[in-house]
Amino acid sequence: MAAETSAGKMNWDMIPYTGDKATASYEGERLFTKGNNTLRLRPLGKWAETISADAEQNEQNNFVPFSNDPAYREANRKLIEKSFGKYAPDEGFIHLDVGGGTGLMVQEGIGIAQNKGKKGRFIMVEPDEFAIVQAFNSTPSVDGISVNFVQGVGQEVEQILDREIGPDGMVDSASVLDAIHEIRGIDNKRSTTRGIVNRLKPGGILIENSAFTTIAQQDPRYGRWKFGAIHRSGGKRVKARKEEVKLETAEQVEIKKTLDFQDSDSSKTAILPPKFYVDLLTLPEEEGGFGMEVILKEEETVQMSESALEGITTYPRFSEGFFEDVEFEEGTVVTIGDKIRWAKEAIKDIPAKDGVIALPRDWYNIIVQKPIGAPMPQAA
Ligand SMILES: C[S@@+](CC[C@H](N)C(=O)[O-])C[C@H]1O[C@@H](n2cnc3c(N)ncnc32)[C@H](O)[C@@H]1O
Repeated sequence: MAAETSAGKMNWDMIPYTGDKATASYEGERLFTKGNNTLRLRPLGKWAETISADAEQNEQNNFVPFSNDPAYREANRKLIEKSFGKYAPDEGFIHLDVGGGTGLMVQEGIGIAQNKGKKGRFIMVEPDEFAIVQAFNSTPSVDGISVNFVQGVGQEVEQILDREIGPDGMVDSASVLDAIHEIRGIDNKRSTTRGIVNRLKPGGILIENSAFTTIAQQDPRYGRWKFGAIHRSGGKRVKARKEEVKLETAEQVEIKKTLDFQDSDSSKTAILPPKFYVDLLTLPEEEGGFGMEVILKEEETVQMSESALEGITTYPRFSEGFFEDVEFEEGTVVTIGDKIRWAKEAIKDIPAKDGVIALPRDWYNIIVQKPIGAPMPQAA
């Protein structure tokens, strides 16, 4: 049975479930179950326009290969161990994962919880239909732990939690891994962060990491890769994105100004300084932040092997972003498939070191805690 969905062609028979087929709980929603885990597919409604339609994942082009890269997994696993592993309560934890993609956090989280004998529940929110179905299908159902996969965006996280754990429900911990930079525009980043912080218990922790900040690509060989891809595409690089120009200035000015920064074009990836994310989380409410306390801030270099580079280019949102500052002659039709192919082919232009093609990528990791007894932030 091929269902009509926002993603076009999803074969629902691929989804393993038990009990009745889809259970419609409200219009347009379908619920699937597998052991302790549930998958709630629902229309994104007005939020659909905040997601890039060109970058939807599908059978051919998706995040699975990169998500399985050992170095990427390990970097994330270590951070989850230091945060969720250390701070989530042993009995009845509730962990919220926003932008969960193909399920890395919940899968690593389950492994860590099992090792430590923790029992509880994960709620994973993810807008991309292919990714969330993949996450549901590839996550085991284990005793004492349940996972609720909910299709949706970070901006509506409070409504999602109202439905999953009730309007007064709070979570012990939350994560936004390799995803905050994908939430478009400063306003959407702020509303997502506000929603998460509002529903975090006092003393609860939030983990974020990103390899799309101003520190991420320090190796000049990134330029060779990009140049090779543009050359193959026949396009022309346009001058540095407005966001970057503004940010160079913003980085030097008062913290408040950084937070006041507005994306001039929120359809593009804003490469923000790590400081932006730290300030947003930690400044007091009256200065535009969410008053969280830092537990850990660190930069971590992760090697992208040749196969990891190939894997990341098959993630449509990556290759779309790769060409965001490239213009093509009027009338030229360029598909996401073309961008993926050019970005992948150009990997061979990256100068090898000791005969090996690899590029270091600098991640920024942050763990913050909601102060015990803090008033609930409501920063606009
Ligand atoms: C690079 S993937 C990372 C996935 C996963 N966290 C991991 O580390 O494997 C980023 C994810 O953010 C999701 N995303 C994009 N916009 C979002 C939004 N507004 N709210 C929540 N997630 C979003 C994308 O669909 C994608 O699955």
